[in-house]
Amino acid sequence: MSHVYISHSSQDLDALLEIHEALRMAAIPDWYAPNDTEDRPKADQAIDDAFAMIVLVSASAVRSKSVRQDVERAKARNLRLIPFQIDKARLNGFFKHEVLPHLKLSSTSTDATGQLVDEVQKAYKRKCPVLAVMNLKGGVGKTTVTSQVFGAWQGALGGRVLLVDLDPQYNLTQTFFDMEHADASAAADRSVISLFERSRLHSRDVVSPGESWLTLSTEPFAAVPRTDLMHDLMGTGSPGGRLDLVSGQFEISKYAFANDSGALQKIKSQFLRMVDHYRSEYDLIVFDTNPNATFLTRCVLEAADRVVAPMHADVYSLRGVRLLNQVIAEQVEAGKRPALSVLFNAVGRSEQSTFEADARNGQYDSKAGFALSKALLKSALPRSGHLMVKAPKDSEPPWRQLVIHSGRGGGLKSIRESLKTVAMELQTLLDG
Ligand SMILES: Nc1ncnc2c1ncn2[C@@H]1O[C@H](COP(=O)(O)OP(=O)(O)OP(=O)(O)O)[C@@H](O)[C@H]1O
Ligand SMILES: [Mg+2]
Repeated sequence: MSHVYISHSSQDLDALLEIHEALRMAAIPDWYAPNDTEDRPKADQAIDDAFAMIVLVSASAVRSKSVRQDVERAKARNLRLIPFQIDKARLNGFFKHEVLPHLKLSSTSTDATGQLVDEVQKAYKRKCPVLAVMNLKGGVGKTTVTSQVFGAWQGALGGRVLLVDLDPQYNLTQTFFDMEHADASAAADRSVISLFERSRLHSRDVVSPGESWLTLSTEPFAAVPRTDLMHDLMGTGSPGGRLDLVSGQFEISKYAFANDSGALQKIKSQFLRMVDHYRSEYDLIVFDTNPNATFLTRCVLEAADRVVAPMHADVYSLRGVRLLNQVIAEQVEAGKRPALSVLFNAVGRSEQSTFEADARNGQYDSKAGFALSKALLKSALPRSGHLMVKAPKDSEPPWRQLVIHSGRGGGLKSIRESLKTVAMELQTLLDG
């Protein structure tokens, strides 16, 4: 969970401590540089991890080099600024230009600290939940669930939903677009790689990070406007609302081969920062993931609040879920671990439903290595021809690939109900 960064001059200690105390009472985590220690890399990292920055505006802050560096870094990262005036400082050009436009709060107004906490709380709450659809077993329906359940979520429950194709096989992208479109998008860096590395979306004179498997760019970059990166899946003729896609590409496989752990660490931080940034533009972000544990797995596990693991009613899927739970427990720090929900997918009527009943009764808990029976969603998705993958037709817009919007046909009504039921159950879990 990220924090609010407090940028201050070392002379404003009283104000700093008062605000720190008020944030602590409101259970909002904060970070500030202690006293005069000038540890720039540490401060920069803390800014990169923050969800907003409070700037204490004072006569000494105006003269402070570190406050200026803080604000510059925040600006480069599109971090939300919440300035708080604590004395009658005369602002210089830099402050007038970068800070003044955001300045609404002053310590002279009544309940000034309370107002500041409210403002920070708003920034905190504007961050939407992040889900990862994951199982360390291939072919269990991760891509189908990402597109169809969350397409149904957007169609039935509304809200702004972003789907991200984090699987180097990029099947999710191919659910909506033909290969030519997907590849052209990747060739222009309008794809998932731009969440990890500085690309031509960020600057024209950059070599595309997809072009070389041997180089990793750790150059920092600011988030581009949503519409430069995301593909709008709804568009003309659709029922409306916002369902966007960050398209995938094969070249993100390069991180699995890289051995520069320092560079990968920075690339992961960049990715987390980007996800955090776009969380304020959506009501839900969902990642489709690859079936093996890689660097990408670690990245998305750190970004996600919850993992949804589709599983078939069989022992192979059970093993995938067991490994997944193990990876979450062993690879993700305690405070950052996402919750795990398991969804039965493609459940048939025959002997497999016995497997489902046994799993719900707790008979596989020990084999799973955790309380699978408690992690299981009550709703499940049946096996259905409507959920089988089909190549998108040129003549059809992307949203037509969603079962929730795809015309008429026998059994559609019931499968739509199932998709909506799963979406609603997940929404209840996230709200709770
Ligand atoms: N409920 C279902 N009913 C019928 N077919 C399904 C269902 N769910 C998935 N499928 C089909 O099963 C196949 C595998 O599904 P999908 O591609 O979603 O799995 P995946 O877990 O994303 O695979 P991978 O590990 O390769 O990424 C696809 O052909 C898909 O259409
Ligand atoms: Mg897939």
